[in-house]
Amino acid sequence: MADTTVNKKKRKLPTTGDRTIPPKGAKMIPIYIMGREYIVPETLTIMKAVEFAGYKYIRGCGCRGGICGACATFYRYTGDYRLRAGLACQTVAEEGMMIMQVPFFPSNRPDYDLDNLEADTHEGLRKLYPEVFKCVGCGTCTRTCPMDIDVMDYIALMKRGDLKGAAHKSFDCVLCGLCASRCPAQISQFTAAMFVRRVYGKHILPKAEHLQARVNDINSGKYETMLKGLTKMTPDDVKKLYVEREREPDMAEAGKWLPEDTSHL
Ligand code: SF4
Ligand code: SF4
Ligand code: FES
Repeated sequence: MADTTVNKKKRKLPTTGDRTIPPKGAKMIPIYIMGREYIVPETLTIMKAVEFAGYKYIRGCGCRGGICGACATFYRYTGDYRLRAGLACQTVAEEGMMIMQVPFFPSNRPDYDLDNLEADTHEGLRKLYPEVFKCVGCGTCTRTCPMDIDVMDYIALMKRGDLKGAAHKSFDCVLCGLCASRCPAQISQFTAAMFVRRVYGKHILPKAEHLQARVNDINSGKYETMLKGLTKMTPDDVKKLYVEREREPDMAEAGKWLPEDTSHL
């Protein structure tokens, strides 16, 4: 690991990850990574500040765009008792931050077969995730969630048997696991919510007939000739085809627009 502690005047930028180029004259600030002090330029995300400090990610980093939930992080400011949580790729590092990433948190992940669930899926939830029904309504999960999801509310919906409501309410979950790490009732909210969304998609949501029609087209080999033609083209010709493709106008009425060439539909 490169030495970028406070005592080193000259600092070499690391070449790992998406290389960080701090703005000219950026103010340098102290932060604490796993209890050790580093001086980093302000304006970096926690993830980039950690890399600036010389760490190379092999876990705890994925999309870098706030989608995958791999970079769950707890932090405190010196002089402030409150424990805060965020995604390292989305949270800007600030002076005095004490940072600890949590790339994995153990959760309840029971085996289940979605095709063979018992008819009463609420009862299925009760069997697979009995802890959900021990929620004490403290709200810590909601306060911890970096996606601003009302976690306590989707747990309450699950308890009431409103699986559709819980599926919708938890839809933005990135599976970071921070909520579960703070729950006094030891609930794995995010895996229970994943189960509910799967049940909802498989057994409750009406089937998308147009999607099934397209799957049937694909299975019948309708697009084989077109795909073979594409694989024979040069990369430049594929790019040209992509750039010049006919696009749906931004304000087209939903379900109304069709391209001029409908031979591939
Ligand atoms: S619900 Fe839990 S696992 Fe999902 S994003 Fe929020 S804190 Fe992370
Ligand atoms: S942290 Fe746990 S006990 Fe508290 S509201 Fe959330 S699910 Fe319920
Ligand atoms: S790296 Fe994917 S959410 Fe941060």
